[in-house]
Amino acid sequence: MLLAAARGEPVAWTPVWFMRQAGRSLPEYRALREGLAMLDSCTRPDVVTEITLQPVRRYGVDAAILYSDIMVPLKAIGVDLDIVPGVGPVLAHPVRSLADLDQLRELTEQDVPYVTEAIASVVGELGATPLIGFAGAPFTLACYLVEGGPSRDHARTKAMMYGAPELWDALMTRLAGIAREFLRIQVVAGASAVQLFDSWAGVLPPAAYERSVLPYSRAVLGALAETGVPRMHFGVGTGELLGLMGQAGAEVVGVDFRVALDEAARRLGPDHSVQGNLDPALVDAPWPVVAAEVRAMLRAGRAARGHIANLGHGVLPDTDPDALARIVDLVHSETVQ
Ligand code: CP3
Repeated sequence: MLLAAARGEPVAWTPVWFMRQAGRSLPEYRALREGLAMLDSCTRPDVVTEITLQPVRRYGVDAAILYSDIMVPLKAIGVDLDIVPGVGPVLAHPVRSLADLDQLRELTEQDVPYVTEAIASVVGELGATPLIGFAGAPFTLACYLVEGGPSRDHARTKAMMYGAPELWDALMTRLAGIAREFLRIQVVAGASAVQLFDSWAGVLPPAAYERSVLPYSRAVLGALAETGVPRMHFGVGTGELLGLMGQAGAEVVGVDFRVALDEAARRLGPDHSVQGNLDPALVDAPWPVVAAEVRAMLRAGRAARGHIANLGHGVLPDTDPDALARIVDLVHSETVQ
């Protein structure tokens, strides 16, 4: 159903999954991760398989998303980085000069054998449920590489983008190649859709996005066209960028919770499906409130040629898994034809 909705084909019910469904809020995830560092866990096909399947079993969602991280391909080519719990990705040597780009060689299948192996095993267990592969978009990866860690204002990244266009182009070109290969490897291994996360693109004005970010995201998504799998593209706070993001080549544009889906569909035009967009913080409100918002989301989503229900950003760590399960049931029961 997810693949049909992505392509704007008729569906018997609105498909639903949740960004960050694999992890954090599930007790069975925390139990499995006990004593295992985040990035190490991503290199263990048995662990990846189990964590990827956990939310599918629990919620009955219409898609699995591979348990991995946007930093996995960078770690795989030897970038010295870690994901610090409660902080996020942290780099030993931030990228500030042309010489720093030596850290970023091309990614090949041999760098991530555990991803290929995990996907084969996940797909074998999933049956008809599609697996979504993903990568970080060049800009969002650049944010971590240039800042050296999470940042509120992304000042160094923006300074490079505005002030050192040649260095910026060299960095973004390499990151586009890495993201493209990471997605391609996942599709070849068996993923049936891909999502390119440009989580932090919303910090940019449209003109800067169009000039300095869109061409590289388009290179990534465009290269995936020949695989034939639906492509999804998402960022946070991207209301003012939706029209431009729609030009990056994805069939589906993810919408955060700040823009209603009918307005998003208007900004995107008739050639895109939309994905989203409940406020992740709404999920733990009393059920009648949540149910009303789910219904409003489904109504607004009908303005687009296709709608994949989701949150407007990732599941929050303290979210009650039962609340997510109730949302899946409601989306399905409201939309069965
Ligand atoms: O969606 C899923 O369930 C699949 C798995 C997934 C993870 N990260 C696992 C993860 C996905 C799709 C991501 C993408 C990701 N990673 C993004 C883009 C999506 C978004 O949320 O905007 C970004 C920006 C990252 C970088 C990253 N990795 C951050 C900011 C963090 C959180 C750090 C923290 O502890 O607050 C991570 C770690 C991470 N990635 C966790 C999980 C389950 C938590 C790690 C843990 O439980 O120890």
